[in-house]
Amino acid sequence: MIMATEERVLVKPPSEVAKQRPGEIEDASWLPVKVKVRNLNFHYGGHQALFDNSIDIPASRVTAIIGPSGCGKSTHIRVYNRIFEIYRSHKAKGTVEIDGENVLSPATDILKLRKKVGMIFQRPTPFPMSIFNNVAYGVKLHYRASRGEIADRVEDALKRGALWDEVKDKLGEPATALSGGQQQRLCIARAIAVEPELILMDEPCSAIDPVATSKIEDLIETLRDNYTVVLVTHNMQQAARVSDFTAFFYKGRIVEFGATKKIFTNPDSGQTEDYITGRFG
Ligand SMILES: Nc1ncnc2c1ncn2[C@@H]1O[C@H](COP(=O)(O)OP(=O)(O)OP(=O)(O)O)[C@@H](O)[C@H]1O
Ligand SMILES: [Mg+2]
Repeated sequence: MIMATEERVLVKPPSEVAKQRPGEIEDASWLPVKVKVRNLNFHYGGHQALFDNSIDIPASRVTAIIGPSGCGKSTHIRVYNRIFEIYRSHKAKGTVEIDGENVLSPATDILKLRKKVGMIFQRPTPFPMSIFNNVAYGVKLHYRASRGEIADRVEDALKRGALWDEVKDKLGEPATALSGGQQQRLCIARAIAVEPELILMDEPCSAIDPVATSKIEDLIETLRDNYTVVLVTHNMQQAARVSDFTAFFYKGRIVEFGATKKIFTNPDSGQTEDYITGRFG
């Protein structure tokens, strides 16, 4: 078991918040807000990709983001950890408050933000190093932990990432030798190893087979106990299976946000209904 140090607890206790099962209607307005977005506009140079996005992402729940290709789903979540900033012409305006702090403020500590907000991309992106070091990398960066603590933490993250049994005898082998689905679970383990509070997943299952997909969906179900998850997906069944809330994006705007069951059975907007029922997109 991983020990707590004086100022930081390395493993959080499971959330004590009682939850509905995914698919049950729950009123988001009663839940604490993890991410409060107001009037977010985004430009790629001269091209505006997001228009006045405002949304409250509930804490300790899974929120799915759906919508046709090019509607701004990736652009929207890439603002939460300011990863877009690697390109100078990419500009975000508006506010994105995570736990009440505007992450777009110049005062934001980017290293702390990236620890708090983990990201998993569509294609697995393992570092060119061993399986063990992929997961240990962030732990070493963010914690002053002993070798024993690091090893415990790597094991714990790989277990939570549903990968431990498949890799425990070859931790020193290159991560790139794993299958695509294993690499994706490794990236999830790498992200959760530093105990982020918010996990952004951008179509994490699009490049992997149904068996690996179902493992990742099970994992998302367990993550929901401790983390806030935002999941971009093109797979309507997946959104319905794993998310508590769903936001429908269209042409850079958030058309509708609500309990997943409502969005999928009785949406307010005709555009949402057309998309859900496969009439476009
Ligand atoms: N690097 C970029 N430079 C210029 N325009 C971009 C860039 N990335 C995305 N865009 C544009 O911004 C808009 C939103 O793109 P984004 O990638 O956020 O869509 P998406 O909803 O994630 O689509 P998909 O489902 O295909 O991943 C699109 O019109 C896209 O062409
Ligand atoms: Mg995308």
